[in-house]
Amino acid sequence: EDLAGQANFDRIISEDSRIEPRDWMPAAYRKSLTRQVSQHAHSEIIGMQPEANWITRAPSLKRKAILMAKVQDEAGHGLYLYSAAETLGTRRDELNNQLLEGRAKYSSIFNYPARTWADMGAIGWLVDGAAIANQVPLCRASYGPYGRAMVRICKEESFHQRQGWEILYELSNGTPEQKKMAQDAVNRMYAPALQMFGPPDSDSPHSQQSMKWNVKRFSNDELRQRFVDMIVVQAEALGLTLPDPDLKWNEERGHYDYGQLDWEEFSSVIAGNGPCNTQRMQRRRTAHEEGAWVREAAAAYAAKTAAAAAA
Ligand code: 3HC
Repeated sequence: EDLAGQANFDRIISEDSRIEPRDWMPAAYRKSLTRQVSQHAHSEIIGMQPEANWITRAPSLKRKAILMAKVQDEAGHGLYLYSAAETLGTRRDELNNQLLEGRAKYSSIFNYPARTWADMGAIGWLVDGAAIANQVPLCRASYGPYGRAMVRICKEESFHQRQGWEILYELSNGTPEQKKMAQDAVNRMYAPALQMFGPPDSDSPHSQQSMKWNVKRFSNDELRQRFVDMIVVQAEALGLTLPDPDLKWNEERGHYDYGQLDWEEFSSVIAGNGPCNTQRMQRRRTAHEEGAWVREAAAAYAAKTAAAAAA
């Protein structure tokens, strides 16, 4: 069964087609996709926190409404991705426990604080911008449920990125204090956003295999470079600078050179020692506990309707 299964799997991958939940797949493929899709979902859910902290402090009703819509979208992205991950055979409560017990990762970027309102702009422009650069190729991931979830998520991320851009544009063209606040947010978010693409290719254990399986379509460094090339031009249009003295056009390469990123810091943040790891995880655990009654009620309702249907 495995030989025929493997041959069928290899054929589908070589034809660049889709692997669906009921197709035979190598255990390693199932394991790696469960890892990536569930951690992607965890990132969306944890990613709600920095922005949710600013909903009550938004400077206008319009900004409050937009930010609420964005945070709700992130929750929805988490739900799509947990649903996609579950089709690989691991129950959602097990995936959730992996996060709650510190056995699963989420994107390092969310362990940095959102200190001012301008951070809502920098997160939208840089963090959602990086997420889009990373997620558009994932729309073509070989695992069907993941690729299809990405299509819907990318459409919503574009709105997230635009509203972030607009916040920074208004601040940058506002009072000198507002422009300073926008520049400060970009200064803090720039490098951690570039690290959302993952470690350098030379230090990326999953990349080779992930690319062979048509999950990762471009390497971490390729997408990071694509993103840098995009934001240099956008920063000029914003009237803001990027905090990187080594940023400069390289005619030969046809790309912007950019400065060394701090991979020590990256590893330390991922290991749980970033500025906000403790508070993000504490908040997540509390939210899970406070939500227990909803889960119990839903389970009781499901049991009741099932019993009624069986009667
Ligand atoms: N934060 C935390 N962990 C990271 C990371 C980051 N920025 N970058 C890499 N890692 C982890 C990987 O998960 C892996 O650890 P693991 O084996 O325990 O999973 C390890 O570092 C080595 O990295 P690799 O490059 O070998 O791993 P991948 O091939 O999986 O590539 C990735 C990493 C590019 C992040 C890939 O997993 C990916 O594309 N994931 C989906 C995208 C994603 O998760 N995006 C989250 C962005 S947040 C978001 O979208 C919310 C937005 O709406 C605001």
